[in-house]
Amino acid sequence: MKRKILVTSALPYANGSIHLGHLVEYIQTDIWVRFQKMQGRECHYVCADDTHGTPIMLRAQSEGITPEALIERVWHEHKADFDGFHVNFDNFYSTNTPETRHYADDIYLKLKAAGLIEIRSVEQYYDPVKEMFLPDRFIKGECPKCHAKDQYGDSCEACGTTYSPTDLIEPYSAVSGATPVRKESGHYFFRLSDPRCRDFLKQWIADPLHVQSEAANKLNEWLESGLSDWDISRDAPYFGFEIPDAPGKYYYVWLDAPIGYMGSFRNLCDKLSAASGKPAETIFNEYWGKESTADVYHFIGKDILYFHALFWPAELQHAGYRTPTGVFAHGFLTVNGQKMSKSRGTFITAASYRKHLNPEQLRYYFAAKLNSSIEDIDLSLEDFTARVNSDLIGKYVNIASRAAGFIHKKFGGVLCDCTASLSPQSDREKTLEIFIRTPSNLMPPDFQPTGNFETPSLTWLNIRRSAIEIARFYESREYGKTLKLILSLADEVNQYVDRMKPWELAKQEGQEVKLHEVCSVCINFFRLLTLYLKPVLPKLAADVETFLNIPPLQWADTIALLPAGHAINPYQHLMTRIDPKQVESMIEENKASLAPAPQASPARHAEKQQHEIQPIAETISIDDFAKIDLRIAKIVNAEHVEGADKLLRLTLDIGEENTRNVFAGIKSAYAPESLIGRHTVMVANLAPRKMKFGMSEGMVLAASGSEPGLFILSPDEGAKPGMRVK
Ligand code: MSP
Ligand code: ZN
Repeated sequence: MKRKILVTSALPYANGSIHLGHLVEYIQTDIWVRFQKMQGRECHYVCADDTHGTPIMLRAQSEGITPEALIERVWHEHKADFDGFHVNFDNFYSTNTPETRHYADDIYLKLKAAGLIEIRSVEQYYDPVKEMFLPDRFIKGECPKCHAKDQYGDSCEACGTTYSPTDLIEPYSAVSGATPVRKESGHYFFRLSDPRCRDFLKQWIADPLHVQSEAANKLNEWLESGLSDWDISRDAPYFGFEIPDAPGKYYYVWLDAPIGYMGSFRNLCDKLSAASGKPAETIFNEYWGKESTADVYHFIGKDILYFHALFWPAELQHAGYRTPTGVFAHGFLTVNGQKMSKSRGTFITAASYRKHLNPEQLRYYFAAKLNSSIEDIDLSLEDFTARVNSDLIGKYVNIASRAAGFIHKKFGGVLCDCTASLSPQSDREKTLEIFIRTPSNLMPPDFQPTGNFETPSLTWLNIRRSAIEIARFYESREYGKTLKLILSLADEVNQYVDRMKPWELAKQEGQEVKLHEVCSVCINFFRLLTLYLKPVLPKLAADVETFLNIPPLQWADTIALLPAGHAINPYQHLMTRIDPKQVESMIEENKASLAPAPQASPARHAEKQQHEIQPIAETISIDDFAKIDLRIAKIVNAEHVEGADKLLRLTLDIGEENTRNVFAGIKSAYAPESLIGRHTVMVANLAPRKMKFGMSEGMVLAASGSEPGLFILSPDEGAKPGMRVK
C-alpha cells in the first residue's frame, strides 16, 4: 500500500510580508514533501493565509479598504514569494473560506456537545472611542517594572518583563489614544483543564513519534503546572467567523487557524476528486476521519508549539477527528548571530532577497544548517556566500562543466557505454552490488565508507549505496547530514576527474576512447548527485534534466546508467557564484526600507515592490537619437577573457569587411557558447575604447533592472547583420 501523507506548514499571518525567518519553515517543509513525492508516496502539502483577527481588521481600516480586499492582496504577495522560492504547495488557500468556517463550526459544536465549552465573564480593557475591546498588543503604557514609556500591554521591550495589560501605568489605546476603561463581557472557553484533556494529552505527548524530545519536555512542564482553559471568543467588532449560537461573538483567530489546515485540504479534495472520481468527502475522511490510516504532519516554529501540541490535538480528539501523526518544531532564524533587525538591515523580506540573490542558494544554505532539533539556526552572510560558492558551485555544479564540454566538442554530444567501467570489479564490489539491489535497510558492517575509492566502479557503488542513508536523513529532517554526505560524494567524483585529467587526455593522440569514457562516467555520477539534491534544488535539478535530456528524476532511478549513445544537450550555465556585493546591496536596501515610504496607493505600491523602475531620462530630439547608429550584429564568437570576472569577448559581424571586437559585461548572465550564432543589436558608432584586455569597438545592448539578471536583445527572425535599427 502506498504511504499516504498530508503535510502542513504554519499559516502565515496575512498582515505582513514573508521574510527569511518564515522561509526556514516553508523551505524545510517543501524539501521534505519533495523528497516524499520523489519516493513515489501520495503526499499532499497544504497551507493558507491566516486572515482573521484584530490587527488585520485595523490595518485594513487604516488603509481605507475592506479586510477582504487586504487579505486578497496579501495572498497574491505571499503566493509570489512562495513561488519564487519554489515552495510548492498543492494548495495555498485562506482561512476566510466556507470550508474553514464549516469545520470551525463543526468542531466547536462537537466540543460543546461533549461539555468542553464554558461561558465565563471576563474583564478586559475597552476603548471607549473606538468602541472595541483591545487586544494586549493594542494597549500601551508605562512599564510597571522599569518605567519605560510606551510599552505594549503584554511585555516590556526595554526590560523584558511580561505582565498583563492591567499592570501598565497610565495605559492608553494604541488605536485611538483614549484611556481604556475596564469592561466585562461573556467569553467562550475550551476547557483544557478538564481531566479528559489532561489525560489524553499526557499519553499523546508520551509517544516519541508525536513530538521531538525537547518539545515533549516543554509540554510536560506545561502539563504539570496545570493547563488553563482557553479563551476562544472575541467580541465584535472583529474580523473572523461569528460563533453560530452566539451573535456578536467571534472565534478567536487561533481557534480557526489550525482548522484552516482542514479547510485548505478540503478545498484540495475537490480538485483531487475531479481527477480520481472519488467523492471529495471520502478523500477528506481518509486523512482526517477517526479511522484514518494516513499520516498527518505539521511543521511549525517553536513559538507556536502550545497551540499545535496541546490545544489542537485535544480539540481534534474530542471532536471526533484523528490527531496528528507528528508535530515537527524548528528553531528561530538569526542573522549574523543576532535576532533579525530592521535597523541592521537583517530583517530581510522574501521579495527583497529575490531581487538580489538566487532563491535556491538560500534553500541550499538553510538545508545545510537544518536538523531535526528545535535549536535556532543562524544565517551568517559570510558563511552563506562561502558555502554556496565553494561547495554548491565549486564542488557540485562544476562537475557538469568539467565533463560536458568534451562530450560536445569531441563526441557529438553523445555518451559512450559505461557498463564495463562501472560494473563491479572485485569480489568486494560484487557483494556491495548485490546489497544495493536488495531492498533492505541494513548496511553490512564491512562496507562502511572508507574514503579511499580507487576505481570508478567503486565510486559508482558508493554513490548508489548512499541513497539509503540520504533517504533516511531526509526522512528524519537531518538535511545538514544529507548535504554533508552528498558533498563527500562530490569530492570523490572531483578526485576521480583530477586523477583522470580529461584536459590532458584531450591533448594526447589515441586517448579519445579513454576521454569519452571519463566524461561519460562523470555525467552519470553527476546525474545521481543531482537526484539526491533535487528536493533542495528543484529548479536547478530541472535545468540539469533538460541538459542531460532525461525525464524528471525519481528516487527509483538510482540503479540504472544512462545508456550508450544517449545524447545530452549543450551545457548551459547552471548557477552563478554569489558576489558579496549582492549581499551588501540587499542589506542596504532593507536598511533603506526603514525610511518613510512615499505616499502611494497600496496597489501601486505592491506592484512597485516587485519591480523598481528607474526614472525616465531627460527628453532628447530626434536628431539626438539619429546620432546613434544601431546595427544588427551576428555573434560569430564569444569567449571568456583571462583575468576578467565580468567580461566576455564578443566577435561581431555587422556586414563590414572585418568583424568587430567588443567586450561586454555579461559574463554573469551568459555562457559564451550559448551566444555563438545569435543575432543582437550593437551601437556601431561608439568611439572605440582601449581596455586592459584590448580595444573594444562598440557596445551590445542589454536590459537590466534592480533585480538580478541581464538580458541581451534579439531582433525578430529575418534581420541580417549590418541592418540599421532606427
Ligand atoms: N498565523 C500563525 C500560525 C497559525 S498556524 C495554524 C503564525 N504566523 S506567523 O506568520 O507569525 O508565522 C508563521 C510560521 O513562521 C510560524 O511557524 C513561525 O514560527 C515561523 N516563523 C516566523 N518567524 C520566524 C523566524 N524568525 N524564524 C523561524 N521561523 C519563524 O504564527
Ligand atoms: Zn520594563
